[in-house]
Amino acid sequence: MKLVLKSIFFSFVLIFSSGKMMSQSSTVILEDNWRFSAAVKEDAFSIDFDTSKWEKVSVPHDWAIYGPFDKEWDKQVSAIEQNGEKIPTEKTGRTGALPHIGTGWYRNTFSIPEFKKGKKALLIFEGAMSEPQVYLNGKKIGEWGYGYSYFYIDITNDLRAGSENLLAVKLTNMPFSSRWYPGAGLYRNVSIVIKEEENFVQWGTFITTPEMKGENAVIDVKAEFQGSNMSMITQIKDADNNVVATQKGGEMKDQKFHQIIEVAKPHLWSPETPYLYTAVTKLYAADGTLKDEQNIKFGIRFIKYEAHKGFSLNGKVTKFKGVCLHHDLGPLGAAVNKAALKRQLTILKDMGCNAIRSSHNMPSFEQLELADEMGFMFLAESFDEWAKPKVKNGYHRFFQEYAEKDIVNLVRATRNHPCIVMWSSGNEVPDQWGAEGVKRARWLQDIFHREDPTRPVTVGMDQVKATMESGFGALLDIPGLNYRVHLYEEAYKTFPQGLILGSETASTVSSRGIYKFPVVQAKNKEYDDFQSSSYDLEACSWSNVPDEDFVLQDDKPWVIGEFVWTGFDYLGEPTPYDEKWPSRSSYFGISDLAGLPKDRFYLYRSRWNTKDKTLHILPHWNWKEREGEVTPVFVYTNYESAELFVNGKSMGVRKKNNSTPQNRYRLMWNDIKYEPGTIKVVAFDSNGKIAAENEVRTAGDPYRIVLEADRKTIKADGDDISFVTVSVVDKNGIPCPTAVNELEFKVTGAGTYRAACNGDATSLEIFHHNKMKLFSGKLVVLVKSIKTAGTIQLEVTGKGLRKGSIEIGSVN
Ligand code: GAL
Repeated sequence: MKLVLKSIFFSFVLIFSSGKMMSQSSTVILEDNWRFSAAVKEDAFSIDFDTSKWEKVSVPHDWAIYGPFDKEWDKQVSAIEQNGEKIPTEKTGRTGALPHIGTGWYRNTFSIPEFKKGKKALLIFEGAMSEPQVYLNGKKIGEWGYGYSYFYIDITNDLRAGSENLLAVKLTNMPFSSRWYPGAGLYRNVSIVIKEEENFVQWGTFITTPEMKGENAVIDVKAEFQGSNMSMITQIKDADNNVVATQKGGEMKDQKFHQIIEVAKPHLWSPETPYLYTAVTKLYAADGTLKDEQNIKFGIRFIKYEAHKGFSLNGKVTKFKGVCLHHDLGPLGAAVNKAALKRQLTILKDMGCNAIRSSHNMPSFEQLELADEMGFMFLAESFDEWAKPKVKNGYHRFFQEYAEKDIVNLVRATRNHPCIVMWSSGNEVPDQWGAEGVKRARWLQDIFHREDPTRPVTVGMDQVKATMESGFGALLDIPGLNYRVHLYEEAYKTFPQGLILGSETASTVSSRGIYKFPVVQAKNKEYDDFQSSSYDLEACSWSNVPDEDFVLQDDKPWVIGEFVWTGFDYLGEPTPYDEKWPSRSSYFGISDLAGLPKDRFYLYRSRWNTKDKTLHILPHWNWKEREGEVTPVFVYTNYESAELFVNGKSMGVRKKNNSTPQNRYRLMWNDIKYEPGTIKVVAFDSNGKIAAENEVRTAGDPYRIVLEADRKTIKADGDDISFVTVSVVDKNGIPCPTAVNELEFKVTGAGTYRAACNGDATSLEIFHHNKMKLFSGKLVVLVKSIKTAGTIQLEVTGKGLRKGSIEIGSVN
């Protein structure tokens, strides 16, 4: 089979103007003024219900992230079948050990002066965890099931013009409903869109670019509208806001305008050149009145999936150097925050990553906007379960009623984003077994195709043998394999597509800055301190170390890329310590829960970032108790060879070679005996000339606190965050890699202390308390702006240490 898909995409963009209204179509984000309570109050939707004692919150909000951690929360006693378990055991930290189970109520009182009789109003939820029941002015107006879905409710008949309205939302999170920390509450934006009666249908415009005609890109705009005798004008603007094409009129069919517009000499969108155009679509009544206007950002890019050749972007074969990401943002929980997402993508960009898989659910709009702007391809996923359960109260409860609606909303709301290059209808669904599952796979894929004929659909499969036999794998546009490197070749031969995607790879585990001896490859390895070794040789029984994926990625043109599990640690699923309290967050991340890179970051960077050089040494060199003992030294680098020196004495040259996957991708000195001092690595270029050097030194006692902000100027919008990395150094300024000092944080001026995180998966310290211990010498403090500009000071103190302080500017 040869699958050829060509397309160009766009992004849905509304005019997001918090609190401000604009003419025709306008959006109000309900950010402030919320009251929240987690106590069960069955009648909390009624208008005169007293909420004066409820907590004042702003939305996005995650009610569970404030803790405390407790092993009793959602303690799942079960056998995880996907992991090959047969006997049920107590999984304490599986969903993060945070209080997300139960009911939560949100209420907001607001008025919308622009709403008048004859206008239309929609209430939009970008994600509500979970099972939202929505009440407006005391009346139930709608509900949804899945906590990750976007949905809207038409409130035209219930919204009061000229007076106050009361919105009440009840959310319920059942125990045993997730395999990871899902968050709790209105964790994404809630907004109200006001439109004229004649309007562009919400999420009803689809822009594609089917082809190049000579030097022109063909832009195809299909816009669904309401009203009669209407006309549409579209202007295409380039990134500098110059109008580069205009189209009036066009065909009209099925209440959709269809325009074909040509853009000469287009700038193509790619991860390296994330160029965005804007389509300004205007809807006019017969008398010439403007009724609606949309500003839709889009990119011009061509994708093609070809058997045996691979995936190409704009005619160039490109492999997905991707990571899977859960939606939580570590210490911020699930509450979406653009600064936190942008920081993640900035870190991933530096690693050379070019793609994200939103495992295992719908991505936030904010993340897609950033992926468009910063240049990441996107595999947008929908479900972790279909009709057959993985967890007792999982998505299977909603599958029959909601699966189609959930996919329709996912696709319609996001299909204009150029970043999205593939959809995923599921992850390791137990429906991989049996004939019903094959039917479901086809049904879901057909819905995606109906809504978007331009992108292929995959499923992350772990039951590869079963899907080879049943036809499940053969019917997918793109067969995605989760792990199982030993089956790639067979799957390639058996499946007709001629392509294999590493939809999920590695699941290597490590704890930042922690090293275990002796250094050996191991599966499901456990240690007494509930940490995993950062020599990057430990994986799960079902998974593998990164180098094994690299071999397939490099040697097989039909392997179209990989999505590593995971880019960052996330809350919950603390494998291999699922049964060990107090482990409560993952060990899979390439970077830790605080966003600090582990050693593995540099292994991927040495392959993926082809612009910059990587020369990273591990482990740290502070092994007081290990003098004279074998302490292997690894170097992750894109140089082919290097020489290692311990206290000036050469330990020999190592050159990458094909004898083992590790020897192919790492330089390793396995027999080094520890002595305090300096380890230095000197790397050579292909001519054998010295090209770069790096060193690691033994540190003395912690002496001084050092602060480094990712951004020293932030926006005074009450949402923006500066992430300050805090570490300690000795008297000579050498970082102390084993320091565990408890530090205290104080923020003054035009900002607030928001949270801290040290990346220790076993820490029960609460993120928003202003005290925390360093983990492997580091932690990150999050400083948030307020809505007033000014200077923010962060001061960090610790017993016996010289304090650290930093100023951050907050501007309008
Ligand atoms: C996969 C699964 C992921 C995560 C991972 C851990 O099988 O799709 O959600 O559980 O294993 O290795």
